[in-house]
Amino acid sequence: MKKLSLIIFVSFWSLITLAQSNLISNTGARKSLSLNGKWEYIVDPYETGFYDYRYKELKENNPDAYWNTDVQVNKTEKKEHGYVEKYSLEVPGDWNHQEPQFLFYEGTVWYKKSFDLEKAFGEHKFFLYFGAVNYRADVYLNGKKLGMHKGGFTPFNFEVPESLLKEKGNFLVVKVDNKRYADEVPTLNTDWWNYGGITREVKLMEVPTDFIQDFVVQLKKDTSGKAPDKTPEVEGWVKLNRAPAKGELITIELPELKYKKVFAAEGQLTALHFKLPKLQLWSPETPKLYTVIIKTKNDQTKDKIGFRTIAAHGTQVLLNGKPIFMRGISIHGEIPQEVRRAYSAADAAQLLGQARELGCNMVRLAHYPHDETMTRLADSLGILVWSEIPVYWTIDFGNPEVLGKAKAQLEEMITRDHNRASVIIWSVGNETPISPVRTNFMHNLLTRARELDNTRMVSAALEVNYSALKDKNIVDDPLGEFVDLVAFNEYLGWYGGLPDKCRTTNWDTPYNKPLFVSETGGDAKGGFHADSLTRFSEEYQEWYFKEQVAMFKRMPAKFVGISPWILADFRSPKRNNPLYQDGWNRKGLYDDKGNKKKAFYIMKAWYEQIKKEQQH
Ligand code: GCU
Repeated sequence: MKKLSLIIFVSFWSLITLAQSNLISNTGARKSLSLNGKWEYIVDPYETGFYDYRYKELKENNPDAYWNTDVQVNKTEKKEHGYVEKYSLEVPGDWNHQEPQFLFYEGTVWYKKSFDLEKAFGEHKFFLYFGAVNYRADVYLNGKKLGMHKGGFTPFNFEVPESLLKEKGNFLVVKVDNKRYADEVPTLNTDWWNYGGITREVKLMEVPTDFIQDFVVQLKKDTSGKAPDKTPEVEGWVKLNRAPAKGELITIELPELKYKKVFAAEGQLTALHFKLPKLQLWSPETPKLYTVIIKTKNDQTKDKIGFRTIAAHGTQVLLNGKPIFMRGISIHGEIPQEVRRAYSAADAAQLLGQARELGCNMVRLAHYPHDETMTRLADSLGILVWSEIPVYWTIDFGNPEVLGKAKAQLEEMITRDHNRASVIIWSVGNETPISPVRTNFMHNLLTRARELDNTRMVSAALEVNYSALKDKNIVDDPLGEFVDLVAFNEYLGWYGGLPDKCRTTNWDTPYNKPLFVSETGGDAKGGFHADSLTRFSEEYQEWYFKEQVAMFKRMPAKFVGISPWILADFRSPKRNNPLYQDGWNRKGLYDDKGNKKKAFYIMKAWYEQIKKEQQH
């Protein structure tokens, strides 16, 4: 009885805390005014527009605050800030690639956008929605603060009081600060470029006064290892922005299945349990998506959802009850040939198209949640996704506030994508140095991830114990006790010895769980050719992967997949060999111009062999 009450308490608690978030999901279905395009800016390294040498923060009515209008009330007024066309940045888009002076810039940039708004009729609310801003955003409208958000890769929205909106000349100002701090997530040190700015879409959404804020419509978690029933069971919920009127009903419809079911709204959160008629399950081979319509008295939203089950079962990963092997690749959210953050459907098509060309059925979206276009395209293409929050390397694990920041990003990641069939793994971090404080911190995140979504696997890139046994490297990271998938990064032949060391090396884990190689790779400057012992040559990288593939063919049965590091070369301030790196991490199987390196063909051939073997 005790266990059952604990489960009830935990699920009750997670439902309660779910109610607190105001993040709106499935925003693509909402009526919106896009605020993408040119924004004017002021570079403010001394935070003059925000702080004053006398006060911690300027008073709202201070005319010198950069969130206040830059128009003089009369010719005598002192104005020391202004926004002009001459200084404009494209949104979405990091600032680093748009102007030479921004390449390494870490600091504050003020963005300003003026917009008009057609009169809205009927009962409605307005929300300002940001796909992502790296790293801190302070948002002001017509001189009033709407809110502040931290976290560079997840969405957020602020309600806009209608009284604040004007029909003409709304003055929207966003202070963006991408400085790094020891107590943020990520922390000071990362092996990627600190692209700053409003890096994803911005829109003003209009919703009914009573609206559907978020929902989950997914197949019930299956731990039995069986394939889903012919009429599979959905387990989810619908979250309204506030408690419904008495007698309010919620309708769920799947037109293609001629399915419709009405539920009594239980409160702000209404649990859903229902069986669907016979349907096509989602899988990489059959990425079938169904239109799901959710209706209440005053609102309606719809999404395209795939139905599948995913679970770690013993030492296997089962998709719809069948064991899978993940032919993956790791990807950074970057378009290398334009040296910028990825944010658009075209960017997603490039990156996932390259992964498919490699023969992948899975991608590890490192080391932070990528743009929503990636997970939605992965749904359509049938590519499995590992999605991760940037709890990366030496986070300040002993600081409860940092745990809160990591949890906030975890919740925003899961809220945005918890209906994406392609997403099968929530990862709470990467290569975090082992200590009791760190393991407790990460265990806390894993528990939170399961509270928010118990239908997917949870994992992290764990640490390897290289000294345990002579000819075997063991993944016995204490965090392995709490994950579903034991994943680890190894660079045998790049960071440790030469590639031939793979011939005498074996891997295993004491955990009776599936084993996954979440990174392996070596640098090669595209087009640099030499003998295979010459570092940074394509031939060295090719030899590296030949030896690695031979080693993977000797892995234990629990080996369920791999996501080599990495699809394409990417920018990093840590990579400063002037001949071969020049500010780029060169571990890509594609170079920064989209050319395939010789190692690409080693991995492609192995993936084709695996696929053939699985078809027999
Ligand atoms: C680490 C890390 C990556 C990094 C890679 C490398 O494993 O997870 O973010 O880029 O190694 O050294 O290239």
